Order: sequence, then structure tokens, then C-alpha cells
Amino acid sequence: MKKEENKKLNIQHNRICKECGPTHINCLTAKEWMKSQVALWEFFYEERDIRDRNIHPAVFPIALPAKCIELFTHKGELVLDPFAGIGTTLVAAKDLERNAVGFDLKKEYIAFANKRLSKIKSQNKTKQITICEDSINIPDYLDEETISLCIASPPYANMLNRARLNKSLRGNQRKNGQYKKIQQYSNNPRDLGTMESQKFAEELGKIYEKILPLLKPKAHCIINITDLWWENKRYPLHIYVTEVLEKVGYELRNIIIWDRRNLVNGAGIFGWPSNYITLGTTFEYILDFWRPPKR
Ligand SMILES: C[S@@+](CC[C@H](N)C(=O)[O-])C[C@H]1O[C@@H](n2cnc3c(N)ncnc32)[C@H](O)[C@@H]1O
Repeated sequence: MKKEENKKLNIQHNRICKECGPTHINCLTAKEWMKSQVALWEFFYEERDIRDRNIHPAVFPIALPAKCIELFTHKGELVLDPFAGIGTTLVAAKDLERNAVGFDLKKEYIAFANKRLSKIKSQNKTKQITICEDSINIPDYLDEETISLCIASPPYANMLNRARLNKSLRGNQRKNGQYKKIQQYSNNPRDLGTMESQKFAEELGKIYEKILPLLKPKAHCIINITDLWWENKRYPLHIYVTEVLEKVGYELRNIIIWDRRNLVNGAGIFGWPSNYITLGTTFEYILDFWRPPKR
């Protein structure tokens, strides 16, 4: 009989900060904490951010996972990104001295993530590990109650699996290099980016149900998502995701709006004059759940 392969990772998950009190949820000072009290967040790109859609079509700025990591973990603790793409969360974790593991289905993204990580010169002893794997299998790699923060931007259902018409852009900018391109991540049937909204939410729920026991009680779980507009109908993915996560045992703590107006160039007058549709590119949701405390 073939022996089961042990895939568990050798990675630390305990605090290495010395001064934080035992009940503190992060290493922030009161002044730093205050900056996160407003539920409208804005981020700027830095030089290391990847904005080339030919490398990956949907990357978040390093500043986004960095802010969540600082808010919800201490130095040395373990961060998980179940949809890691080209490793932005892991870059932020390395910068901030947190251990991290990122999973993605596509080997090209994992290879690019490793390249990004290798460029960060750092003396700190934390590890950032990338794994090319379906995130439904995450429990094979990590032990229960070891993760302090789970953060991801999953596919926005099958939003990218259609020829891009750039309708939100000004007329003269519509026919850019991405016009009529289908930007999907892959054709893998396990890729959540190939699934229509309800099926996507169902599969996402199954993955997060498996992740829940791996989280420490009260560990936060952040999901960055936006809603879909398709053929004049809104698909409120943020509601579907909230419903499935609550169903499998998470509690919603906060809804934060990522105000993206500073990142949007050349927006067209969307829908005018006959159809009021809010411009999806100007904001996204940052849904903040946690694993409820043991009561
Ligand atoms: C929005 S992207 C994440 C990008 C990432 N935040 C970054 O900054 O690079 C979503 C990722 O989920 C991956 N993905 C889709 N289905 C998956 C699955 N079942 N298991 C693991 N990864 C999956 C896709 O390959 C894609 O890279």
C-alpha cells in the first residue's frame, strides 16, 4: 500500500515581537491604528507593483495586503493567501517580517511570485512559501489554529472570461491593447474564474470552510471583491460571498470600501443619459470576516 505523502510545511506561526501586550491584535501604535478607523481606504502604487495585464490581469497593490497585515497580525505570525496570483501578499509579508504561504493554480504565476520575492533583500528570518495547488487542498499543508490572517482577492467569478469591451473608458481610449481580449487566468475547470456567479460563491464557500479550522480563533479573513455588471444586470458578488462565508462559520466584522478614484484614468460617462450604473472601477469591497472566538 502506498504511504500517504506528508505535505505539511515547516513554517513558524508565533509572534517574534517583544513589546506587544498579550491581548494586542497588532504591533501598531495608537496613532497608526487611528489611520485605519475610517472604512474608506485608498492605496497608491509603488515601483515594485506589477501593472502589466499580460503578466497577470488582476493584481492588487502591495499597499493593500500590507495594511491588512499590519492591522491584523504581529511580526512572526502566519499569513495565508489562498488565491496568491503573482504573490503580492507574500511581498508585503516579507517586507513586514511575517511568515506567509500563498497558493495559486497556475504555475506561471507562482514562478513570477518567486522571482518577485527573490528581489527583496532582507535579513529577517521569516519565510514566504508559494505553492502551485488548488486551494481546496490547503489543509494538507497547514496545521489547525496556526494562521493569524487569511487575505485574498479571489477571481471575481467569471468577470474576465469575456471579450473586454472597455465600456467604462472614454471613447478614444476604448480600443487599447486589451480591447476584445479575454483575460482569464486559465481554462482549468477548478479555476474559480471560469465559474458563473452562484457556482463561484458555492465553490468559494467550500474552500473557506476548509480554511476555517486552520485559523486561530479571532483571526481575520479578508476578501477583496467587486460586483459584476453583465448585460445590464448587477451580480452582487459581495453579498453572495458574505452569505456563503457566514454559512460555513465565519462572522462578518466590517465592510470597507477601497476608494479607487485615484487609480482610474480616462473614465467615460458610463450609462449616460439613459441608464444609471455606478462605475465599478472606482471602488471595490474589502470584506473583513473573522473566525469567531470560542464561546
Ligand atoms: C485576482 S487573482 C489574485 C491576484 C493576487 N492578489 C495578486 O496580487 O497577484 C485570483 C487568482 O486566483 C487563482 N485561482 C483561481 N482558482 C483557484 C483555485 N481553485 N485554487 C488556487 N488558485 C486559484 C487564479 O489563478 C488567479 O491568479
